[in-house]
Amino acid sequence: MALNIKRPNGTEDVIPKNVHKWHTVEKIARDTAESFGFGEIRFPTFESTDLFLRSVGETTDVVQKEMYTVMAKESKFTLRPEGTAGAIRSMLQNGLLNEALPQRVYYIVSCFRHERPQAGRLREFHQFGLEMAGSSSPAADAEVISLAQTLLNRLGLKNIKLYINSIGCPACRAKYHDTLRTYFSAHKTELCETCQDRLIKNPMRILDCKSPICQEIAKDAPIILDYLCEECSNHFENLKGYLTKLGIEYNVNPKIVRGLDYYTKTVFEFVTTEIGAQGTVCGGGRYDGLIEQLGGQNTPALGFAMGIERLLLVMDKQGCDYLTPKKCDIYFATMGDAALEKAMELSKSLREYGYFAEYDMMNRGLKAQMKYANKIGAAFTLVLGDNELSEGKAKLKEMEKGEETQIALDDKFAAAFEEVYFNKIMDVMETESGDGGLLSFMGGDK
Ligand code: HAM
Repeated sequence: MALNIKRPNGTEDVIPKNVHKWHTVEKIARDTAESFGFGEIRFPTFESTDLFLRSVGETTDVVQKEMYTVMAKESKFTLRPEGTAGAIRSMLQNGLLNEALPQRVYYIVSCFRHERPQAGRLREFHQFGLEMAGSSSPAADAEVISLAQTLLNRLGLKNIKLYINSIGCPACRAKYHDTLRTYFSAHKTELCETCQDRLIKNPMRILDCKSPICQEIAKDAPIILDYLCEECSNHFENLKGYLTKLGIEYNVNPKIVRGLDYYTKTVFEFVTTEIGAQGTVCGGGRYDGLIEQLGGQNTPALGFAMGIERLLLVMDKQGCDYLTPKKCDIYFATMGDAALEKAMELSKSLREYGYFAEYDMMNRGLKAQMKYANKIGAAFTLVLGDNELSEGKAKLKEMEKGEETQIALDDKFAAAFEEVYFNKIMDVMETESGDGGLLSFMGGDK
């Protein structure tokens, strides 16, 4: 019977043969964040809807069109459309901001936005994100951007361009809003319905509208960089200086306003042209007013998030390396019940040592078992039958070269296997140039 319930549109499955790609990104992301002093934070998948209204902003596309909101009894909850709001809510609720500053957290979370699915744009997607709270210095902006750049480099990604902009503070933005209102008022009737409303409430959001007509009108709109106050302007200049010192190439793009309302001063995006229209792999910026807006003390903060699915699209496209998935170290081919029981016992002891051991659970004949061992790429096989059991020893076969080693089936089996295993590693190290072969033989992690 055909499966008649499929996964929802805009969601993806990750099956075991592909999960090593995710592990690669997650591991390198964690290691990188931790090397910059960030600690992992975990927070709920859903939050009170108000949290997102007050942070992401009521006039954003995310809040107006894309949130998954549910009524549960009398409470209204929303599946997180992004990580910042939940991370900051959690930092506040757990008193992290009363501890030594800056506070630095990172997260790997699923996010939900009801957008039109296309390559690189999903309804459930995953973000690696991080937030730093407490520093108003442009050095912190440079640090966070440098972290993002380091991570992209460590993932092996190339040709990803960094775009930066400053969208000022509430003071300079008030003047800019007036100018924008005047500009867009001349095109009022051509704007989409949502943007007509934004014209009054938050004209900067029109710059971010996805409607082609609004985008066309926005092309010639005045840019915020011309309206920055002295402090915002100095902050931006200092950031550029730090980026240059760090050897990080950047392009100033005055059109970047970001799709979320909480940003102030620096905003940035890392963009690729290699995966189609959804090429922004990382977006972030400073949000100096958010913490206070959510009930905390006035605390400057900033961060970014990367879309993991988008990172993987680019990594696949560019042929980046992934951690090698773990392969079977030893397969026991068994004949009869007593041999099967022995295989169970030996596997148990090997697994205590951290090896990946497997034996037949399908009642296959010997030939079919060996075919299976080949198929799964077992590094070693060991045939167990009545003879081997009565003699208390068996032949351990190294599958690549076919070399056999006699091994006792006693309580020193795991230690003896380890010795043969490490001899093989030494062999691989001597014959392979580089460590690609070794890593693949060792299943990446051992
Ligand atoms: P964002 O730009 O909305 O920022 O999302 C960050 C990244 O998530 C995007 O650059 C993209 O790679 C990925 N992404 C967003 N929407 C989708 C989607 N529908 N499908 C696949 N990937 C997607 C934020 O979320 C901010 N919270 C980032 C931040 C953290 N700013 C400061 N701290």
